[in-house]
Amino acid sequence: MNFKSFSAFVLAAASLVSASPIEKRSSIPGIDVSNWQGSINWSTVKANGAQFVYIKATEGTTYLDPNFSNNYVGATNAGIYRGGYHFAHPDVSSGATQANYFLAHGGGWSSDGRTLPGALDIEYNPSGATCYGLSASAMVSWIKDFSNTYYSKTGVYPGTSNDMIYTTTDWWQTCTGNSASFASTNPLWIARYSSSVGTLPAGWSYETFWQYADSGTNPGDQDIFNGDAAGLKRLSLG
Ligand SMILES: *[C@@H]1O[C@H](CO)[C@@H](O)[C@H](O)[C@H]1NC(C)=O
Ligand SMILES: *[C@@H]1O[C@H](CO)[C@@H](O)[C@H](O)[C@H]1NC(C)=O
Repeated sequence: MNFKSFSAFVLAAASLVSASPIEKRSSIPGIDVSNWQGSINWSTVKANGAQFVYIKATEGTTYLDPNFSNNYVGATNAGIYRGGYHFAHPDVSSGATQANYFLAHGGGWSSDGRTLPGALDIEYNPSGATCYGLSASAMVSWIKDFSNTYYSKTGVYPGTSNDMIYTTTDWWQTCTGNSASFASTNPLWIARYSSSVGTLPAGWSYETFWQYADSGTNPGDQDIFNGDAAGLKRLSLG
């Protein structure tokens, strides 16, 4: 080892030491899947350590994921916490309309101790303008409409069982003007394929879930719950 690589080693070791309190914090692995993963062996997923899954249910107001039911039943039978997610198309109909469509097709929530709050996947438009042609204030109103509708149909106690918001910090900054008005009502599921979660959207001081990679040991995207087993249980209970 020459001097340069030795000092690189010292720096790397130092950063590992300073990072260790974070790495030692309790976190639980899970995944999110859609029909893209095809048929999934849920007992293998469980054996590989996944303890929760978000399953694609709906998109807009016309698309149902053909594999939602099989995935949901498979995860349930394997004893994995599960919840549905909705891919938002804020350009085609209102937030309330899409929340009701999601609720009617797998996005529902109840405090049965194994269902995660439904998630709103709001992110880059796969086929058009990044922000779906909406201004930042119109986008915030759309998300509020979705969230209020979801909560009005599922809420048991004030402030609980609101939908999860899945997004990236970049999209949220670009398309909502970095709105801070959901942080006190909606848990955050942040997507960032990196070794750290990075800057969060305004208002949230921590993420509930972190999607950190689009592949891994298990099928689908790889996620981490930011807490311990008791915390995941609490989330499922509202
Ligand atoms: C997933 O959906 C596709 C398309 O409908 C179907 O061919 C396939 O059998 C489904 N697989 C599972 C596991 O549900
Ligand atoms: C799932 O994988 C397990 C091994 O982990 C195997 O025993 C089982 O037969 C598989 N199930 C299906 C339906 O392929």
